[in-house]
Amino acid sequence: MNLFLMLLILAVLLIIMVFSLIQLYNIAFRGFAPFISTKFNAILAILKELNLSGQETVYELGAGKAGFLRAIEQKFKNEKLIGIEYAWWPYCLARMQIMLSGSKIKLIRNDIFKVNLKEADIIYCFLSPKMMDLLEKKFRKECRPGTLIISYHFRMKGEEPEKVIKENKNSIYFYRI
Ligand SMILES: C[S@@+](CC[C@H](N)C(=O)[O-])C[C@H]1O[C@@H](n2cnc3c(N)ncnc32)[C@H](O)[C@@H]1O
Repeated sequence: MNLFLMLLILAVLLIIMVFSLIQLYNIAFRGFAPFISTKFNAILAILKELNLSGQETVYELGAGKAGFLRAIEQKFKNEKLIGIEYAWWPYCLARMQIMLSGSKIKLIRNDIFKVNLKEADIIYCFLSPKMMDLLEKKFRKECRPGTLIISYHFRMKGEEPEKVIKENKNSIYFYRI
C-alpha cells in the first residue's frame, strides 16, 4: 500500500472518529436523542389517525432517515415536508434515499433548536425526555395555534395530550398547541 493511500485512510478514520465523538458528547451531555428509527408499525398507526389534505407543512424534528416524512409523502402527497437532522451519518443516508426516490422532502442539516417552526402545521418527534422539555417552550413560542405535535414515546410534561394511542405497548402522544 503506498503512503498516499495510507494517509487517506487515516484521514477518513480520523474524521469519522471526530464526528462520532461530537455525537457522543451531544448525547451524553446535551441530552440529544441517539439515532434509532421509529418502528414502521408505529408510523402506520399514526397515519391511520391523520386525515391530511396534502397542503399542510410537515416537519420531522431529528429526522434520522426521514421515515415519517416519506410515509406522509406516499400516503397524502404533501409537498412541504421538512426534516431537520444534525448528525452527519443519518443525514447522508436520508439524503441518498431522498435523491434516489425523487422525493420532494427538504432535508436540512441543523440543530432543531436553531430552526424556527412558525410555518409548521404538523410536527413529528421521536427524541428524548430532555429534548421534549426544551421543545415544549419552543413550540409555545413559535408554533401557530392549532399546530399538531406528535411525539413517539416521550410526552411533554406541561401539556395535556389531545389523544394518546398505543402501538405494541409504546405510547404515541398527539398534542394541539
Ligand atoms: C430517535 S432518532 C429518530 C429518527 C427519526 N425521526 C425516526 O423517527 O425514525 C432521533 C434523531 O434526532 C437527531 N437529533 C438529536 N438531537 C438533535 C438536534 N438537536 N438537532 C437535530 N437533530 C437531532 C439524532 O441524530 C437522531 O437521528
